[in-house]
Amino acid sequence: MLKVGVVGATGYAGEEVIKILINHKDVKIAELQAVIDKEEPISSIFPGFKGKIDLVCKKPDPDGMARNVDLVFLGLPHKVSMELAPVFLKAGKAVIDLSADYRLQPDVYKVWYGVEHKDKDNLPKAVYGLPELYHDAIKSAKLIANPGCYPTSVILGIAPMLKEKAISTDYIIADSKSGATGAGRKPDLALAFSEVNENLKAYKVNEHQHKPEITRILSEVAGKAIDVIFTPHLIPMNRGILSTIYLKLNKKLDTKAVVEIYKKFYKGKPFVRISDEGKLPQTKDVVLTNYCDIGLKVTGDTVIVVSCIDNLTKGAAGQAVQNMNIMCGFDETEALK
Ligand SMILES: NC(=O)c1ccc[n+]([C@@H]2O[C@H](COP(=O)([O-])OP(=O)(O)OC[C@H]3O[C@@H](n4cnc5c(N)ncnc54)[C@H](OP(=O)(O)O)[C@@H]3O)[C@@H](O)[C@H]2O)c1
Repeated sequence: MLKVGVVGATGYAGEEVIKILINHKDVKIAELQAVIDKEEPISSIFPGFKGKIDLVCKKPDPDGMARNVDLVFLGLPHKVSMELAPVFLKAGKAVIDLSADYRLQPDVYKVWYGVEHKDKDNLPKAVYGLPELYHDAIKSAKLIANPGCYPTSVILGIAPMLKEKAISTDYIIADSKSGATGAGRKPDLALAFSEVNENLKAYKVNEHQHKPEITRILSEVAGKAIDVIFTPHLIPMNRGILSTIYLKLNKKLDTKAVVEIYKKFYKGKPFVRISDEGKLPQTKDVVLTNYCDIGLKVTGDTVIVVSCIDNLTKGAAGQAVQNMNIMCGFDETEALK
């Protein structure tokens, strides 16, 4: 039985990791930690866990947890994970980091997160945890940089057409909408009910911190530098991301042919579902699941891609557990179907 720890257990991503691992046949949740005033059972913090898990959530003590677990999930804010991950890695434990701390090169990280990276030794060893593109590298990884939620939906929506060399790479537009849990469980006026409800807003237009992550991975897929115009939006729902992506074809293809390209590219990938021609996915089809649903429409020389995920599942905790399953040789879909 694999002994697992969760740091940041009182956050949305941490809560979701616990929810999934409770039903995992190969895992024992051994320790939970977060910044809390008093140590108490996690079921007091999240009553939904009553009778399912009553482990006490402790104050941060990475050395103590490292002695007690085989693998740890870090559900921490950016700039915190790079302080804690080295403790676990030095102790020979595997780390799956849900923050952005291991997703970018140090110079790019400094530009977009405003601080010097504090763990340049381990950063080059991090594997980007998108199983549909990096399955084999994840198998032998000790440190996983779990992808961001927007990048998961956008990269899975674009990669097949880049691999197929069927699109112009000069003009790619990704227009994404996310529910409020994407910003985390912290008090923030912008996330107050009466600010979010009955409202729809674009924010950080083409300057959101997920843009360099999207362009980094798409450039690796294409084998050349790729830029994307990325516009995130906040919408009045708890969970769910829908990305609408516009791609310019560089050869004549109809919707049927494009659907075939995506079905072939994701053949055998358990968590990507391609809608049949004429059908488009909705967020309610994927909420509380680990699926990424993709729908396609060709109009003139433009491909319109609609890519839906649950920001907390395929966009965070579910993908993190999917990565753990691959790292540990478990069934990739264990506790996720
Ligand atoms: N929410 C999403 O949809 C989503 C999707 C993909 C990736 N992510 C990433 O996953 C990470 C967690 O996101 P979230 O939404 O769960 O954020 P969150 O709700 O704000 O949770 C952050 C957690 O980290 C704890 N924490 C903060 N500083 C700590 C420290 N120094 N030591 C130990 N625990 C500490 C917090 O404890 P207190 O609350 O008690 O302070 C809380 O439990 C973030 O990096 C986020 O970008 C989130």
